[in-house]
Amino acid sequence: MVTKKIAVLFSGSGSNLEAILEKLHGKIFGDIKIEVVLTLTNKPNALGIQKAEKYGLTSVVIDHKAFVSREEFDAKVVEVIKKSGAELTVLAGFMRVLTPVFCEQIKAINLHPSLLPLFKGAHAIDESFASDMQVGGVSVHLVSAELDGGKIIAQEAFAREGKTRDEWEAKIHEIEHEILPRTIVKILKGEI
Ligand code: GRF
Repeated sequence: MVTKKIAVLFSGSGSNLEAILEKLHGKIFGDIKIEVVLTLTNKPNALGIQKAEKYGLTSVVIDHKAFVSREEFDAKVVEVIKKSGAELTVLAGFMRVLTPVFCEQIKAINLHPSLLPLFKGAHAIDESFASDMQVGGVSVHLVSAELDGGKIIAQEAFAREGKTRDEWEAKIHEIEHEILPRTIVKILKGEI
């Protein structure tokens, strides 16, 4: 049995962090056991902090406002991740643009609420809903220095079927909570 350590970075409500903790933390998948060794946020009031507490995890808060440049913030985050021993870092609603300081040192994946390469950026749910596309979806991709631009490693689509804006968003989150944990397991098992 090999223990695989992961770090989860978040900025907001942390529903994807919670899905990861519920489905993966301390769980065994064949010959690997997964441990979330670090939960980290850039927002001192992120609701995800309380979600991590339920699993006995005290989150590290690194407030980006305390740094003069993106690079300095990234360097601090990299230092903490390296110290944690995590081999994979998961961005689960981590709303920061990352520089090469991070991307060149940390193996990371990001969750994005659209079918990339469409609707990059922070307004993907609204923009995809407002489009005339008959499908919406969710992507998981490797993190690169280009915002929402790294190699796509998992995707799932759903049909519009007259969904309201709320139903559209709810469907996205429902898929996110499945696709992200599933993809993490595949990576840690060497299947991706
Ligand atoms: C998700 O929709 C994710 O795709 C986006 O930010 C949101 C995070 O939600 N990048 P939560 O904080 O995990 O609830």
